[in-house]
Amino acid sequence: MRRGGFHIIGVLSTVLLIGGITACDNNQSDDARPAEPGATDKAASHDAGDRTASGDSAAPGRTFTVGMSQCNLGEPWRVQMNADIKKEADNHAEVRMVFKDAQNDTLKQRSHVEEFVSAGVDLIVISPKEAAPLTEPVAKAMDAGIPVIVLDRRVLGDRYTCFIGADNKLIGKAAGRWIVETLGSKGKVVELKGLMTSTPGQDRHAGFREGIQGSEIEIIFEADMKWLEPNARKEMESALARFDEFDLVYAHNDPGAHGAWLAARAAGREKDIKFVGIDALPHEGVMYVSQGILDAAFEYPTGGREAVQTALRILNAESVPKEITLGSRVFTKDNADTGGAPIGDQ
Ligand code: FRU
Repeated sequence: MRRGGFHIIGVLSTVLLIGGITACDNNQSDDARPAEPGATDKAASHDAGDRTASGDSAAPGRTFTVGMSQCNLGEPWRVQMNADIKKEADNHAEVRMVFKDAQNDTLKQRSHVEEFVSAGVDLIVISPKEAAPLTEPVAKAMDAGIPVIVLDRRVLGDRYTCFIGADNKLIGKAAGRWIVETLGSKGKVVELKGLMTSTPGQDRHAGFREGIQGSEIEIIFEADMKWLEPNARKEMESALARFDEFDLVYAHNDPGAHGAWLAARAAGREKDIKFVGIDALPHEGVMYVSQGILDAAFEYPTGGREAVQTALRILNAESVPKEITLGSRVFTKDNADTGGAPIGDQ
């Protein structure tokens, strides 16, 4: 339902939708992070399915309903993303956010997007669990004239309005290079991967392998822990049982690195092994680094603030880039208290 054609059924269903699901966003903290540094715009192109192409700009005094489909709220990073979105949306009286939590269930997330479309929301923000199964519902929203911002994990193809996220390949590569340098170019490493049907898992793996190329680093064990701390702990127990010695665990997120550390500590081996993770939330990864649990945490900004700002630009018929790439920083014991250091493609 296009904005110009917003009629009574759309209004009614939106009211019903909001009435039915506003409870979804009360699981949030206002402990939002400071502004993400180094945000850059890339590849300024405009999508044909974007309703701003209609030239249908906002009427004064109009409010917009933005549906946010979150793949889960079981992990601190996602709670932070929703908090960042809410914090920014609270600055804009014309935006009404409706949050849905798919509880890590792909089918549920597909239905959530379909529900947003039938309710006639003005724009959808989605942080998809997996790329392939969420591609079709997102394309259908675009077909219905609803712009879609894809946040953090990607869908396949280019049927969306704008993608916002950090460069996971670059982060994986920076982690690889940091590990090569820290281990003196050789050593035995365990890789605990994020869900490999999601794009950050694929990119953090590929980037890392590129980063260690030419060194004598050996990957002695790798497993898909699907982003989850308990899975990482279990996989690490297997790695510890199989190998008497290894030097470092590279986990695709901080909960994974922490799960591995817990397993190592239970085996009395945590002091013999280094741990590297990704996310670097102040109250998670950065805190672990300060406590000496992790040796490095690479920042993965949530993009929540940028998503709301970009949504407003789209809803006000401004053109937006197809891709907005966020910067990242690395935190180690030497710089954790002073805000970390930016990573680059050195
Ligand atoms: C949370 C999370 C983060 C990770 C991101 C990747 O669900 O696993 O820890 O950086 O998703 O999409």
